[in-house]
Amino acid sequence: MQLQGRRVLITGASRGIGEALARAFADAGAVPALVARSEDSLRSLASATGGTAHPADLADATQVAELIERIENEAGPIDILVNNAGIESTAAFADAPADELRRVTEVNYLAPAELCRQAIPRMLRRGGGHIVNISSLAGIVVFPGLVTYSASKAALSHFTAGLRADLRGLPVKTTLVELGPVPTELLARADNYEPTARSFQRIERLGFAVDTPRETVALGVVDAVRRQRRHVRLPRRSMPFSLLVEAPRRLTEVLLSGVPHQAKS
Ligand SMILES: NC(=O)c1ccc[n+]([C@@H]2O[C@H](COP(=O)([O-])OP(=O)(O)OC[C@H]3O[C@@H](n4cnc5c(N)ncnc54)[C@H](OP(=O)(O)O)[C@@H]3O)[C@@H](O)[C@H]2O)c1
Repeated sequence: MQLQGRRVLITGASRGIGEALARAFADAGAVPALVARSEDSLRSLASATGGTAHPADLADATQVAELIERIENEAGPIDILVNNAGIESTAAFADAPADELRRVTEVNYLAPAELCRQAIPRMLRRGGGHIVNISSLAGIVVFPGLVTYSASKAALSHFTAGLRADLRGLPVKTTLVELGPVPTELLARADNYEPTARSFQRIERLGFAVDTPRETVALGVVDAVRRQRRHVRLPRRSMPFSLLVEAPRRLTEVLLSGVPHQAKS
């Protein structure tokens, strides 16, 4: 997809990877529409990138319910949706506060899925679009202290693979982004819980993970959208984990390749 003048909705754009994504898409000629709760950060990033700010809380299902329509009314049609907003919950599962499971699942899985549900028919009516879902190595492997987070990211990754099957042959494409450690506030919080920090250190010592700068992630995502690639996996040394999980999905795609992808109406 050519990016010049395309509108890209980026959730979780007030800091971290989302902010880097906004800057990288703007550098590539796209127009960012930015979502997060921190209004001041969003507005200053919007003015720095020539984009628009749309403060919203993705943990609030009523705000998510009409979000795509609201943003398209405020800014114009969305060509690319990047579901980047995410929160971690680092604790032993049974010790976490009562509302943690619901909150993490809302932000990391239900809101991205709901935004896809709202955006895809609009993109199809306009002739095309692209969905990027930012998932995690933690959606493939499991770390102590990250049960709720890992489960939400596994759901998002599997959802994206299913969406790809749903959209086969249609002009809306998907990219699943599976990331290892990226130094941000989220990673710093996860590192605060000792069992999680120890498991991160071990996987790094074994050579399967290394920090990736957020700017590298952002450039990889921009390139993937431009070239309509299905996956971004960083760091590359974690790729064996992704390929193991992807193998049965691909096998199903091959087995079902003769099945029409859309129900007849
Ligand atoms: N950093 C890593 O090592 C790593 C690894 C794998 C995957 N990821 C994924 O990458 C994505 C970005 O993470 P990051 O490391 O950049 O985290 P971050 O620095 O903590 O940024 C998270 C972003 O999500 C937004 N957000 C959080 N809760 C929200 C809510 N209820 N409604 C709307 N926006 C909300 C935050 O903005 P406000 O607080 O202003 O709302 C912020 O802009 C996440 O999906 C994360 O799971 C990160």
